[in-house]
Amino acid sequence: MVAGRPEVIVALDYPDFESAWALVEQLPADTWYKVGLELFTRAGPPVVERLAGEGRNVFLDLKLHDIPNTVAGAVRSASRLGARLLTVHAAGGEAMLRAAADAAVEAAAAGNGSGAQAHSRLRLLAITVLTSLDDASLPAVFGRGATVEETVGRLAGLARESGIDGAVSSVRECRAIKLACGEEFMVVTPGIRLAGQDAQDQARVATPAVASAAGADYLVVGRTITKSEDPRTALETVRAAIDS
Ligand code: C5P
Repeated sequence: MVAGRPEVIVALDYPDFESAWALVEQLPADTWYKVGLELFTRAGPPVVERLAGEGRNVFLDLKLHDIPNTVAGAVRSASRLGARLLTVHAAGGEAMLRAAADAAVEAAAAGNGSGAQAHSRLRLLAITVLTSLDDASLPAVFGRGATVEETVGRLAGLARESGIDGAVSSVRECRAIKLACGEEFMVVTPGIRLAGQDAQDQARVATPAVASAAGADYLVVGRTITKSEDPRTALETVRAAIDS
């Protein structure tokens, strides 16, 4: 969390509820989970409601990008499900980001959410530039001369000014975002690997300690834990590596 030790979020990258839940049952009750498009599209809101209903923390990674009214409605729905973090695309623009931020605040005031999550406001995270884009492919999307570094900084600033609570970024951009947007602007970083571990398909990886030193508030960790023969110990190892 902000100004403290980063929290580990386990990515539930599974095709169905049963596989996801088999992992959840092996991990401590205070574990954070990321529910992304694959699992949500198949298993839907019940996954989030069940996790939240049992007091577990959910990062709902739906990367919303639509007109303001539609995104605001989706934010209210996510808040009602009990999610704690939700992603929106900063490229949706100021009006969309403001509508999303206002909806999150209003939903909290209306007492949305269930169980233990009822009093924890849904926080919104901006997606700036997808890490699948690079300096070569960016101009076709964001216009001539656009670079990853400049675009990430600009979109993070826009998100911050529009009331969004934080951003998802690689560890590499984490410090720059904190400097530009302030320490209280949360940064969530995927692409985490233990020292000496295979990067697999991730182009830019960092260890938990490096991510922590860069100021990350949450570390998203997938296969290091989900593909481990002993996920509980793997989670403990990642948590311990933050301080190493
Ligand atoms: O298995 P691994 O630790 O690489 O999983 C990382 C998780 O973070 C996956 O859910 C992936 O979709 C997500 N993610 C990522 N890179 C980004 C954004 C999200 O790996 N730039």
